[in-house]
Amino acid sequence: MYKFLPYMTNDYSTGLYNEGVNDIYHSAFGALTEAYEKFINPLNIKTYMKDKMRLNVLDICYGIGYNTKALLNEILTLDISGKEINIDCVDNDKVLIELSPFISSRINLLKRIKAKKYLRKNVESYDEAKKIVNLKTGINKTYKIHDLVNQILIKNLINEYGHDFLSEESKKIMAENENQAFFDLSTLKFYKFLLNFEVILHLKQNKSAFVHNIYYKNISKRIIDVFKKKHLDNISINFCPKDIREHLKETDKEYDIVFLDGFTPSKCPCIWSEEFFNKLYSLMSADSILVTYNSSAPVRNAMQKAGFYIGNTLNNKNDIIGTVAAKNETYIKHELTEKQIGLLNTKSGIPYRDENLLLDNDTILLNRKNEFDSSNLISASQYLKKNK
Ligand SMILES: C[S@@+](CC[C@H](N)C(=O)[O-])C[C@H]1O[C@@H](n2cnc3c(N)ncnc32)[C@H](O)[C@@H]1O
Repeated sequence: MYKFLPYMTNDYSTGLYNEGVNDIYHSAFGALTEAYEKFINPLNIKTYMKDKMRLNVLDICYGIGYNTKALLNEILTLDISGKEINIDCVDNDKVLIELSPFISSRINLLKRIKAKKYLRKNVESYDEAKKIVNLKTGINKTYKIHDLVNQILIKNLINEYGHDFLSEESKKIMAENENQAFFDLSTLKFYKFLLNFEVILHLKQNKSAFVHNIYYKNISKRIIDVFKKKHLDNISINFCPKDIREHLKETDKEYDIVFLDGFTPSKCPCIWSEEFFNKLYSLMSADSILVTYNSSAPVRNAMQKAGFYIGNTLNNKNDIIGTVAAKNETYIKHELTEKQIGLLNTKSGIPYRDENLLLDNDTILLNRKNEFDSSNLISASQYLKKNK
Protein backbone atom coordinates (compact mmCIF):
# COMPACT_ATOMS: atom_id res chain seq x y z
CA MET A 1 0.00 0.00 0.00
CA TYR A 2 1.22 3.50 -0.86
CA LYS A 3 2.32 5.46 2.22
CA PHE A 4 1.55 9.16 1.92
CA LEU A 5 2.92 10.91 5.01
CA PRO A 6 2.47 14.68 4.92
CA TYR A 7 3.40 17.21 7.58
CA MET A 8 3.27 20.97 7.92
CA THR A 9 6.66 22.65 7.51
CA ASN A 10 7.57 25.90 9.20
CA ASP A 11 6.39 28.22 6.40
CA TYR A 12 2.99 26.44 6.37
CA SER A 13 3.79 24.59 3.15
CA THR A 14 3.24 20.83 3.00
CA GLY A 15 6.26 18.58 3.43
CA LEU A 16 6.44 14.82 2.96
CA TYR A 17 8.24 12.08 4.80
CA ASN A 18 9.34 8.78 3.26
CA GLU A 19 9.26 5.89 5.68
CA GLY A 20 11.08 3.50 3.31
CA VAL A 21 14.24 5.61 3.07
CA ASN A 22 13.66 7.25 6.48
CA ASP A 23 14.21 10.63 4.91
CA ILE A 24 12.19 13.79 4.49
CA TYR A 25 11.41 15.10 1.04
CA HIS A 26 11.33 18.67 2.28
CA SER A 27 13.13 20.61 4.97
CA ALA A 28 11.20 21.23 8.18
CA PHE A 29 12.34 24.84 7.85
CA GLY A 30 9.87 25.31 4.98
CA ALA A 31 9.36 23.34 1.77
CA LEU A 32 8.48 26.35 -0.36
CA THR A 33 11.09 28.62 1.23
CA GLU A 34 13.72 25.96 0.56
CA ALA A 35 12.71 25.76 -3.12
CA TYR A 36 13.13 29.50 -3.47
CA GLU A 37 16.33 29.89 -1.50
CA LYS A 38 18.20 26.86 -2.81
CA PHE A 39 16.91 26.57 -6.36
CA ILE A 40 15.25 29.73 -7.68
CA ASN A 41 17.03 32.70 -6.10
CA PRO A 42 20.55 31.54 -7.14
CA LEU A 43 19.41 31.51 -10.80
CA ASN A 44 18.51 35.16 -11.05
CA ILE A 45 15.98 34.09 -13.67
CA LYS A 46 14.95 37.55 -14.84
CA THR A 47 18.48 38.41 -15.98
CA TYR A 48 19.13 34.87 -17.22
CA MET A 49 16.09 34.89 -19.52
CA LYS A 50 16.52 38.41 -20.81
CA ASP A 51 18.13 37.55 -24.15
CA LYS A 52 17.07 33.91 -24.38
CA MET A 53 14.29 32.82 -26.72
CA ARG A 54 14.28 29.28 -25.39
CA LEU A 55 14.52 27.84 -21.92
CA ASN A 56 14.81 24.08 -21.44
CA VAL A 57 14.53 23.06 -17.80
CA LEU A 58 15.15 19.65 -16.24
CA ASP A 59 13.62 19.16 -12.78
CA ILE A 60 15.36 16.04 -11.42
CA CYS A 61 13.32 14.44 -8.64
CA TYR A 62 10.22 16.57 -9.17
CA GLY A 63 8.36 15.02 -6.18
CA ILE A 64 5.38 17.33 -5.53
CA GLY A 65 6.96 19.98 -7.69
CA TYR A 66 8.04 22.85 -5.45
CA ASN A 67 11.00 23.81 -7.64
CA THR A 68 9.00 23.84 -10.86
CA LYS A 69 6.14 25.67 -9.13
CA ALA A 70 8.46 28.35 -7.75
CA LEU A 71 10.10 28.75 -11.17
CA LEU A 72 6.70 29.11 -12.89
CA ASN A 73 5.69 31.61 -10.22
CA GLU A 74 8.66 33.76 -11.18
CA ILE A 75 8.13 33.26 -14.91
CA LEU A 76 4.56 34.57 -14.49
CA THR A 77 6.02 37.94 -13.50
CA LEU A 78 8.06 38.21 -16.74
CA ASP A 79 7.16 39.04 -20.31
CA ILE A 80 7.57 35.73 -22.13
CA SER A 81 6.00 36.65 -25.45
CA GLY A 82 7.95 35.01 -28.26
CA LYS A 83 9.85 32.78 -25.83
CA GLU A 84 9.53 29.03 -25.55
CA ILE A 85 9.70 27.43 -22.12
CA ASN A 86 9.94 23.71 -21.70
CA ILE A 87 10.12 21.93 -18.36
CA ASP A 88 10.82 18.20 -18.05
CA CYS A 89 9.71 16.98 -14.62
CA VAL A 90 11.21 13.60 -13.78
CA ASP A 91 10.36 11.46 -10.75
CA ASN A 92 9.98 7.70 -10.46
CA ASP A 93 6.90 8.16 -8.23
CA LYS A 94 3.89 8.80 -10.49
CA VAL A 95 1.50 9.26 -7.56
CA LEU A 96 3.43 12.33 -6.42
CA ILE A 97 3.41 13.77 -9.95
CA GLU A 98 -0.39 13.38 -10.11
CA LEU A 99 -0.95 14.88 -6.68
CA SER A 100 1.47 17.77 -7.17
CA PRO A 101 -0.95 20.48 -8.39
CA PHE A 102 -3.34 19.83 -5.51
CA ILE A 103 -0.93 19.83 -2.59
CA SER A 104 -1.10 23.00 -0.56
CA SER A 105 1.93 25.27 -0.45
CA ARG A 106 0.24 27.50 2.15
CA ILE A 107 -1.93 25.50 4.56
CA ASN A 108 -5.06 27.44 5.35
CA LEU A 109 -5.24 29.11 8.79
CA LEU A 110 -8.17 27.00 9.95
CA LYS A 111 -6.50 23.76 8.94
CA ARG A 112 -3.15 24.40 10.62
CA ILE A 113 -4.08 22.95 14.01
CA LYS A 114 -5.28 19.77 12.34
CA ALA A 115 -2.15 19.65 10.17
CA LYS A 116 0.09 20.03 13.21
CA LYS A 117 -1.59 17.04 14.83
CA TYR A 118 -0.46 14.85 11.94
CA LEU A 119 3.16 15.88 12.31
CA ARG A 120 3.70 13.59 15.28
CA LYS A 121 1.67 10.83 13.72
CA ASN A 122 3.36 10.89 10.33
CA VAL A 123 6.98 11.73 11.02
CA GLU A 124 7.50 10.84 14.65
CA SER A 125 10.62 8.85 13.93
CA TYR A 126 12.47 11.58 12.08
CA ASP A 127 14.53 14.02 14.16
CA GLU A 128 14.47 16.99 11.86
CA ALA A 129 10.72 16.98 11.56
CA LYS A 130 10.40 16.82 15.32
CA LYS A 131 12.33 20.08 15.49
CA ILE A 132 9.46 21.96 13.86
CA VAL A 133 7.51 21.71 17.06
CA ASN A 134 10.29 23.62 18.80
CA LEU A 135 11.31 25.96 15.98
CA LYS A 136 11.22 29.43 17.42
CA THR A 137 12.23 31.26 14.23
CA GLY A 138 9.64 33.53 12.66
CA ILE A 139 7.44 31.97 10.07
CA ASN A 140 8.66 32.85 6.60
CA LYS A 141 5.71 34.18 4.64
CA THR A 142 7.70 35.75 1.84
CA TYR A 143 6.75 33.25 -0.81
CA LYS A 144 3.35 32.35 -2.18
CA ILE A 145 2.45 30.25 -5.20
CA HIS A 146 -0.10 31.84 -7.56
CA ASP A 147 -3.23 29.73 -8.29
CA LEU A 148 -2.37 29.93 -11.99
CA VAL A 149 0.75 27.84 -11.42
CA ASN A 150 -1.31 24.85 -10.28
CA GLN A 151 -3.73 25.43 -13.16
CA ILE A 152 -0.81 25.31 -15.62
CA LEU A 153 0.28 21.98 -14.09
CA ILE A 154 -3.26 20.59 -14.39
CA LYS A 155 -3.56 21.79 -18.00
CA ASN A 156 -0.34 19.98 -18.87
CA LEU A 157 -1.27 16.82 -16.95
CA ILE A 158 -4.56 16.75 -18.89
CA ASN A 159 -2.70 17.25 -22.18
CA GLU A 160 -0.50 14.28 -21.38
CA TYR A 161 -2.84 11.84 -19.62
CA GLY A 162 -6.42 13.02 -20.33
CA HIS A 163 -8.95 14.68 -18.01
CA ASP A 164 -9.21 11.81 -15.57
CA PHE A 165 -5.46 11.64 -14.98
CA LEU A 166 -5.61 10.67 -11.31
CA SER A 167 -4.87 7.01 -10.57
CA GLU A 168 -6.99 5.06 -8.06
CA GLU A 169 -4.13 5.39 -5.58
CA SER A 170 -4.08 9.19 -5.87
CA LYS A 171 -7.87 9.42 -5.61
CA LYS A 172 -7.77 7.36 -2.43
CA ILE A 173 -5.12 9.62 -0.88
CA MET A 174 -7.11 12.73 -1.78
CA ALA A 175 -10.30 11.29 -0.31
CA GLU A 176 -8.71 10.38 3.07
CA ASN A 177 -10.12 12.58 5.77
CA GLU A 178 -6.82 12.99 7.55
CA ASN A 179 -5.08 14.27 4.41
CA GLN A 180 -7.58 17.08 3.77
CA ALA A 181 -5.54 19.75 5.54
CA PHE A 182 -2.74 19.25 3.02
CA PHE A 183 -4.77 19.78 -0.14
CA ASP A 184 -5.65 23.10 -1.71
CA LEU A 185 -9.38 23.66 -2.02
CA SER A 186 -9.35 26.19 -4.84
CA THR A 187 -7.21 23.94 -7.08
CA LEU A 188 -9.49 21.01 -6.30
CA LYS A 189 -12.54 23.10 -7.24
CA PHE A 190 -10.88 24.17 -10.47
CA TYR A 191 -10.15 20.56 -11.41
CA LYS A 192 -13.67 19.40 -10.50
CA PHE A 193 -15.07 22.18 -12.65
CA LEU A 194 -13.02 20.98 -15.63
CA LEU A 195 -13.96 17.38 -14.96
CA ASN A 196 -17.72 18.06 -14.67
CA PHE A 197 -17.83 19.93 -17.93
CA GLU A 198 -15.83 17.23 -19.61
CA VAL A 199 -18.39 14.63 -18.49
CA ILE A 200 -21.36 16.72 -19.66
CA LEU A 201 -19.60 17.41 -22.92
CA HIS A 202 -18.95 13.74 -23.46
CA LEU A 203 -22.57 12.77 -22.82
CA LYS A 204 -24.08 15.44 -24.99
CA GLN A 205 -21.37 15.91 -27.51
CA ASN A 206 -23.44 15.34 -30.59
CA LYS A 207 -26.74 16.44 -29.18
CA SER A 208 -25.96 19.89 -28.04
CA ALA A 209 -23.57 22.46 -29.34
CA PHE A 210 -25.00 24.55 -26.52
CA VAL A 211 -23.15 22.65 -23.78
CA HIS A 212 -19.99 22.86 -25.78
CA ASN A 213 -20.34 26.62 -25.96
CA ILE A 214 -20.90 26.98 -22.23
CA TYR A 215 -17.81 24.91 -21.62
CA TYR A 216 -15.59 27.09 -23.74
CA LYS A 217 -17.23 30.29 -22.58
CA ASN A 218 -16.54 29.39 -18.97
CA ILE A 219 -13.07 28.15 -19.60
CA SER A 220 -12.27 31.14 -21.71
CA LYS A 221 -13.52 33.50 -19.01
CA ARG A 222 -11.62 31.75 -16.33
CA ILE A 223 -8.38 30.76 -17.89
CA ILE A 224 -8.00 30.81 -21.65
CA ASP A 225 -7.81 34.63 -21.72
CA VAL A 226 -5.31 34.66 -18.91
CA PHE A 227 -3.33 31.94 -20.62
CA LYS A 228 -3.27 33.99 -23.83
CA LYS A 229 -2.56 37.32 -22.16
CA LYS A 230 0.30 35.90 -20.20
CA HIS A 231 1.51 33.77 -23.13
CA LEU A 232 1.13 30.69 -20.98
CA ASP A 233 0.73 28.59 -24.12
CA ASN A 234 4.45 29.22 -24.58
CA ILE A 235 5.03 27.01 -21.55
CA SER A 236 5.01 23.24 -21.93
CA ILE A 237 5.56 20.81 -19.12
CA ASN A 238 6.41 17.17 -19.69
CA PHE A 239 5.90 14.77 -16.83
CA CYS A 240 8.25 11.80 -16.90
CA PRO A 241 7.39 9.15 -14.30
CA LYS A 242 10.61 7.14 -14.52
CA ASP A 243 14.13 6.68 -13.19
CA ILE A 244 16.06 9.82 -14.06
CA ARG A 245 18.94 7.75 -15.42
CA GLU A 246 16.59 6.22 -17.98
CA HIS A 247 15.40 9.68 -18.97
CA LEU A 248 18.97 10.92 -19.45
CA LYS A 249 19.76 7.97 -21.70
CA GLU A 250 16.65 8.57 -23.85
CA THR A 251 16.48 12.32 -24.19
CA ASP A 252 18.08 14.37 -26.94
CA LYS A 253 17.22 17.72 -25.33
CA GLU A 254 19.79 20.34 -24.49
CA TYR A 255 19.06 21.74 -21.03
CA ASP A 256 19.66 25.29 -19.85
CA ILE A 257 18.61 24.90 -16.23
CA VAL A 258 18.84 21.77 -14.10
CA PHE A 259 17.38 21.34 -10.61
CA LEU A 260 18.95 18.42 -8.75
CA ASP A 261 16.85 17.68 -5.69
CA GLY A 262 17.12 13.98 -4.85
CA PHE A 263 17.37 12.29 -1.50
CA THR A 264 20.80 12.64 0.10
CA PRO A 265 23.76 10.74 -1.46
CA SER A 266 23.85 8.28 1.45
CA LYS A 267 20.23 7.25 0.61
CA CYS A 268 20.16 7.68 -3.17
CA PRO A 269 23.73 7.76 -4.57
CA CYS A 270 22.63 6.87 -8.12
CA ILE A 271 21.82 10.51 -8.85
CA TRP A 272 25.09 11.88 -7.45
CA SER A 273 27.70 9.69 -9.19
CA GLU A 274 30.58 10.87 -11.37
CA GLU A 275 29.01 9.15 -14.40
CA PHE A 276 25.67 10.83 -13.68
CA PHE A 277 27.33 14.26 -13.82
CA ASN A 278 29.25 13.28 -16.97
CA LYS A 279 25.95 12.45 -18.63
CA LEU A 280 24.32 15.68 -17.40
CA TYR A 281 27.28 17.69 -18.65
CA SER A 282 26.84 16.24 -22.14
CA LEU A 283 23.14 17.21 -22.15
CA MET A 284 23.56 20.81 -20.97
CA SER A 285 23.98 23.90 -23.14
CA ALA A 286 27.13 26.06 -23.04
CA ASP A 287 25.26 28.70 -21.03
CA SER A 288 23.55 26.34 -18.60
CA ILE A 289 23.28 26.30 -14.81
CA LEU A 290 22.72 23.38 -12.43
CA VAL A 291 21.59 24.08 -8.86
CA THR A 292 21.34 21.74 -5.90
CA TYR A 293 21.01 21.88 -2.12
CA ASN A 294 23.93 19.47 -1.75
CA SER A 295 27.40 20.76 -0.93
CA SER A 296 29.22 17.57 0.05
CA ALA A 297 32.76 16.79 -1.12
CA PRO A 298 32.00 13.62 -3.18
CA VAL A 299 29.25 15.41 -5.08
CA ARG A 300 31.32 18.54 -5.76
CA ASN A 301 34.32 16.45 -6.75
CA ALA A 302 32.19 14.46 -9.21
CA MET A 303 30.83 17.70 -10.70
CA GLN A 304 34.32 19.10 -11.11
CA LYS A 305 35.63 15.89 -12.70
CA ALA A 306 32.75 16.07 -15.19
CA GLY A 307 34.02 19.49 -16.27
CA PHE A 308 31.76 21.93 -14.41
CA TYR A 309 32.90 25.11 -12.67
CA ILE A 310 31.39 25.01 -9.20
CA GLY A 311 30.54 27.54 -6.54
CA ASN A 312 28.59 28.02 -3.33
CA THR A 313 25.02 29.26 -3.18
CA LEU A 314 24.17 31.53 -0.24
CA ASN A 315 20.95 32.59 1.47
CA ASN A 316 20.24 36.18 2.46
CA LYS A 317 22.16 35.66 5.72
CA ASN A 318 25.21 34.57 3.68
CA ASP A 319 25.07 30.97 4.93
CA ILE A 320 26.21 28.37 2.39
CA ILE A 321 23.08 26.46 1.37
CA GLY A 322 24.13 24.52 -1.72
CA THR A 323 26.08 24.33 -4.94
CA VAL A 324 25.86 25.86 -8.39
CA ALA A 325 27.58 24.10 -11.32
CA ALA A 326 28.05 25.70 -14.74
CA LYS A 327 30.05 25.36 -17.94
CA ASN A 328 30.47 29.11 -18.09
CA GLU A 329 32.56 30.43 -15.19
CA THR A 330 30.72 33.76 -15.09
CA TYR A 331 27.76 32.02 -13.43
CA ILE A 332 29.90 31.28 -10.37
CA LYS A 333 29.19 34.19 -8.05
CA HIS A 334 30.60 32.72 -4.83
CA GLU A 335 33.75 30.67 -5.31
CA LEU A 336 34.63 27.72 -3.10
CA THR A 337 36.92 28.52 -0.19
CA GLU A 338 40.44 27.06 -0.11
CA LYS A 339 39.35 24.64 2.59
CA GLN A 340 36.39 23.44 0.52
CA ILE A 341 38.66 22.88 -2.49
CA GLY A 342 41.20 21.03 -0.32
CA LEU A 343 38.50 18.70 1.00
CA LEU A 344 37.68 17.54 -2.53
CA ASN A 345 41.10 15.85 -2.66
CA THR A 346 40.69 13.93 0.58
CA LYS A 347 39.12 10.51 1.09
CA SER A 348 35.81 12.27 1.71
CA GLY A 349 35.90 13.60 -1.84
CA ILE A 350 35.90 10.12 -3.41
CA PRO A 351 32.91 10.20 -5.80
CA TYR A 352 30.13 7.64 -6.06
CA ARG A 353 30.54 5.51 -9.18
CA ASP A 354 27.87 4.01 -11.45
CA GLU A 355 29.64 3.03 -14.65
CA ASN A 356 26.70 2.36 -16.98
CA LEU A 357 24.13 4.28 -14.92
CA LEU A 358 22.53 0.97 -14.00
CA LEU A 359 23.69 0.00 -10.51
CA ASP A 360 21.36 -0.12 -7.52
CA ASN A 361 21.94 2.25 -4.61
CA ASP A 362 23.24 -0.43 -2.21
CA THR A 363 25.90 -1.58 -4.68
CA ILE A 364 27.03 2.00 -5.33
CA LEU A 365 27.35 2.60 -1.57
CA LEU A 366 29.25 -0.64 -1.01
CA ASN A 367 31.66 0.03 -3.91
CA ARG A 368 32.42 3.49 -2.53
CA LYS A 369 33.00 2.12 0.95
CA ASN A 370 35.51 -0.39 -0.46
CA GLU A 371 37.30 2.32 -2.44
CA PHE A 372 37.31 4.57 0.64
CA ASP A 373 38.74 1.85 2.91
CA SER A 374 41.58 1.00 0.52
CA SER A 375 42.42 4.60 -0.44
CA ASN A 376 45.79 6.19 0.41
CA LEU A 377 44.35 9.69 0.32
CA ILE A 378 44.50 11.85 3.43
CA SER A 379 41.31 11.77 5.54
CA ALA A 380 39.14 14.88 5.84
CA SER A 381 39.84 15.19 9.58
CA GLN A 382 43.64 14.98 9.02
CA TYR A 383 43.37 17.62 6.32
CA LEU A 384 41.32 19.93 8.53
CA LYS A 385 43.77 19.48 11.45
CA LYS A 386 46.65 20.45 9.14
CA ASN A 387 44.82 23.44 7.69
CA LYS A 388 43.21 25.05 10.72
C1 LIG B 1 13.80 15.06 -1.90
S1 LIG B 1 12.49 14.43 -2.83
C2 LIG B 1 12.23 15.66 -4.04
C3 LIG B 1 11.40 16.82 -3.60
C4 LIG B 1 10.86 17.60 -4.77
N1 LIG B 1 11.86 18.31 -5.50
C5 LIG B 1 9.69 18.48 -4.40
O1 LIG B 1 9.71 19.67 -4.67
O2 LIG B 1 8.73 17.94 -3.84
C6 LIG B 1 13.28 13.16 -3.78
C7 LIG B 1 12.44 12.58 -4.90
O3 LIG B 1 13.29 11.74 -5.67
C8 LIG B 1 12.51 10.73 -6.26
N2 LIG B 1 13.46 9.70 -6.74
C9 LIG B 1 14.27 8.88 -6.00
N3 LIG B 1 15.07 8.15 -6.80
C10 LIG B 1 14.79 8.52 -8.07
C11 LIG B 1 15.30 8.13 -9.35
N4 LIG B 1 16.24 7.21 -9.48
N5 LIG B 1 14.77 8.72 -10.46
C12 LIG B 1 13.79 9.65 -10.36
N6 LIG B 1 13.28 10.07 -9.17
C13 LIG B 1 13.78 9.51 -8.04
C14 LIG B 1 11.57 10.34 -5.13
O4 LIG B 1 10.41 9.72 -5.63
C15 LIG B 1 11.29 11.70 -4.48
O5 LIG B 1 10.10 12.24 -4.96
